[in-house]
Amino acid sequence: MDVRVTDTPLLQWSGDGLVIGLFEEHVELTGDLAALDKNLSGTIQELISEVEFKGKEGSSTATRVGSGSAVRKVILVGLGKADTLKLDNIRRAAAVGARLAKKEKCKRIGVFLPTWSNAPTLTAQAIAEGIELALYQDNRFKSDPDEKTSQIEQVELLGLAGQDAAIVRAHHISSGVILARELVAAPANVVTPITLAETAETLAREYGLGLEILEREDCEKLGMGAFLGVAQASDLPPKFIHLTYKPDGNPRRRLAIIGKGLTFDSGGLNIKGAGSGIEMMKTDMGGAGATLGAAKAIAQIKPDVEVHFITATTENMISGHAIHPGDILTASNGKTIEINNTDAEGRLTLADALVFTEKLGVDAIVDLATLTGACVVALGEDIAGLWSTDDTIAQQLTEAGELAGEKLWRMPMEEKYFEGMKSLIADMKNTGPRPGGSITAALFLKQFVKETPWAHLDIAGPVWTDKENGYNGAGATGYGVRTLVNWVMSNP
Ligand code: BES
Ligand code: MN
Ligand code: ZN
Repeated sequence: MDVRVTDTPLLQWSGDGLVIGLFEEHVELTGDLAALDKNLSGTIQELISEVEFKGKEGSSTATRVGSGSAVRKVILVGLGKADTLKLDNIRRAAAVGARLAKKEKCKRIGVFLPTWSNAPTLTAQAIAEGIELALYQDNRFKSDPDEKTSQIEQVELLGLAGQDAAIVRAHHISSGVILARELVAAPANVVTPITLAETAETLAREYGLGLEILEREDCEKLGMGAFLGVAQASDLPPKFIHLTYKPDGNPRRRLAIIGKGLTFDSGGLNIKGAGSGIEMMKTDMGGAGATLGAAKAIAQIKPDVEVHFITATTENMISGHAIHPGDILTASNGKTIEINNTDAEGRLTLADALVFTEKLGVDAIVDLATLTGACVVALGEDIAGLWSTDDTIAQQLTEAGELAGEKLWRMPMEEKYFEGMKSLIADMKNTGPRPGGSITAALFLKQFVKETPWAHLDIAGPVWTDKENGYNGAGATGYGVRTLVNWVMSNP
């Protein structure tokens, strides 16, 4: 599929499907749209009246224009109210329009949407992202992928001439989001610590990233007892992956992104029971997926910022080698942890990853993790939790997420709750009481960061969606990639 901007005026455009955005409470046709409607013998106005189209966010409708017309089909998409329009409404409207155009068998489509907040570059980028992400279909595991269905071949964005670079950037970002989706959606017998390391190798080779993979013995030498404790019951070797993007010339900033990379989480000896969603635990590497997806995007966009991408990846399994509940592990900063629940494994892998990353001397660290069911209880499935010791990073991530259309909400670092993690015998336990479970998880991570500005995103909810929504199909969302790219690019 080819996405491009065009300077063809609306009234002169011809093709299979024209996607037009309309605001709620403002569906009357004026200006160019009124003139176009006249050219199309009043088809648009008829459609609006016939289906009582109201311009509501997410709504769409399509109709055939009389034969002989330059435009074969008109596709209307609702934008919601004009005064509350967000950039993500544009991304979603483009996605909804593209989906309907595909269903209507259009091959060449035009997209006519308003420019958000006088920002044509962001608008063009969002439209292109929305379309690419909406049309992506994961057929890797189907024996008969239905490739026979007709596909959109060309997309032209009207009214955005000159925004070619924004389309290229959207393509780079989408490729990262799609990599993250594919990694998360693939089951645990396909995406393993070994294949994640291979994916990192491919990224390093194709995009010229630096790559370091620490094997079990390397991690032992560094004293990563927390990470290796989690890994010890798996038949697969753990892999500690560290990719580096370095700009030509002096980096303006040096940043690090860490992703939880549990390719499967059985719970360990505190095994996940019925109704726990154990069959979804292939998604427990969603943080690693976002991290590698961001690496893929950033390596192509080439900002003047150095970025380290890190994941300590393994499985949480059971065997005669498994950690016993009650075992004491020593992390690479020397802190000792009494394992009172083997299912709180993500924080153990992240502990050693945080210690390793801080030694790189970066300016800021962000980690992403499908860390707690408690965060899903608190914020639901669409919103990630954000914890930070640093108001500046928290603010940067909030703005980055807003433009990305990835919802996140700042949560408290309530130090007092760490009392619930006190151990009689070790420096701390790995879990506290049930109330505030996502907060104590964040407080646990904080024990492994000394002074580098740091933020933690709990993405257990938004890593996956059961139903199609805008540019996200049902399944893995690739959550975090767009926010991370925005954060890296904006970081002052
Ligand atoms: N990977 C899970 C968290 C999770 C739960 C992600 C549901 C996605 C959906 C994590 O390792 C875990 O098991 N957390 C426990 C922590 C508890 C033992 C303190 C949880 O949330 O129940
Ligand atoms: Mn777990
Ligand atoms: Zn887990």
